[in-house]
Amino acid sequence: TSQQLWTGRFTEATDRFVEAFTASEHFDRRLYRQDIRGSIAHARMLTACGVLTEAERDAIVRGLGEIQAEIEQGAFEWSPALEDVHMNIEKRLTDRIGDAGKKLHTGRSRNDQVATDIRLYLREAIVEIRAELLRFQQGLVDLADREADTIMPGFTHLQVAQPVSFGHHMLAWYEMLVRDQGRFEDCAARLNVMPLGSAALAGTSFPIDRAMTCAELGFDRPSDNSLDAVSDRDFAMEFAAASSILLTHLSRMAEEMILWASPMFDFIDLPDRFCTGSSIMPQKKNPDVAEIVRGKTARVHGHLVGLLTLMKGQPLAYNRDNQEDKEPLFDTVDTVRDCLRAFADMVPAIHTRPESMKAAARKGFATATDLADYLVRKGVPFRDAHAIVGAAVRHGVETGRDLADMELETLRGFSNTIEADVFEVLTLEGSLAARDHHGGTAPNQVRQQVQKARKRLAET
Ligand code: ARG
Repeated sequence: TSQQLWTGRFTEATDRFVEAFTASEHFDRRLYRQDIRGSIAHARMLTACGVLTEAERDAIVRGLGEIQAEIEQGAFEWSPALEDVHMNIEKRLTDRIGDAGKKLHTGRSRNDQVATDIRLYLREAIVEIRAELLRFQQGLVDLADREADTIMPGFTHLQVAQPVSFGHHMLAWYEMLVRDQGRFEDCAARLNVMPLGSAALAGTSFPIDRAMTCAELGFDRPSDNSLDAVSDRDFAMEFAAASSILLTHLSRMAEEMILWASPMFDFIDLPDRFCTGSSIMPQKKNPDVAEIVRGKTARVHGHLVGLLTLMKGQPLAYNRDNQEDKEPLFDTVDTVRDCLRAFADMVPAIHTRPESMKAAARKGFATATDLADYLVRKGVPFRDAHAIVGAAVRHGVETGRDLADMELETLRGFSNTIEADVFEVLTLEGSLAARDHHGGTAPNQVRQQVQKARKRLAET
């Protein structure tokens, strides 16, 4: 009573546990659309090459179309005994149309079939991911534009360093995503090579026309080596690597938002609709979306390592190990898509608290470097200026005052080159405005970068 398509050389039925253990239909059924698309292209090509008749082709194309509808209506009966998406669909086709269905697999193997399916799937997934990435980038650029004049303390070592524009910080996030866009673009370009026609590993004895299937399936070219084509999963590792780097970026952003939303910082307010409460502490508003993104990053990093490890011991050509590529790959796609969606929705809705940020900058003597630069412009060597300002800061720490709050006389006590014009450089606004060069944090530069980013996004 076996449903299997390969029982000929076997003398006993597959062990029930082994049947379940080796089955992949419960997760690879996600590839049904790509599998059907590939089969239709293959059937048309076989007909053009004289291997199938036009009647057989028409029956196959119609049958596969009906099967796709069945699957989408939830009426398709998936069977683990038929192992995977490929044999589930092929068996159903034969049940529906008879002998023509049995001819579909001529000149083909599941090895080139599955490699083709995943590439088609990932190609579409990358289009969607890149669109969501673009939406997030647009949101960041709008936020940067809105907050170009908002001053926050910039940090190094998580200690207040120098004042920066909040918009500048948002554009730093944007730049990370520009590189991520590039990585997904590269990945999509490299994966768009068609394995179909490689058959099990050596090619096929039928007179196939790979250029025809290639054109129909939208690949850039057919693969040049059948052994490599059925065993190559570089595109999966590359996609997981690009995803891992992207999520590392999102995780760093998450970490910053979590800190900033803490009352200890109080730099931003996250919209209530993106936060959750506590079951016990009535006052709590927790940044769970950001925390979940930071947490999801771990599983995607895990998938990258999983895929690298999956491949490292495999001899050429196809090995069944490869079936284990799908769950990490699918989960990476889902996770990346969801995390991008969450941030594209949430981040542009951030509400800033400029007064808190300014207060933090003042408390941290964020304009100390500006005072040193001022002394240098008055002729003091930088190292001496550094020591003079260091002493002034120590005085500020001891007396609880920012440099800008000290009297001119007090400041002159540290260096008599200091004059009344010093107060222009000690303000946070003056500090920002002074960094007015390409890549600097002056609001004016931030606006220029916003324009540049908008132009670039319009071309993405
Ligand atoms: N389910 C298999 C996979 O995901 C399809 C290819 C199986 N090929 C084979 N010779 N068993 O890789």
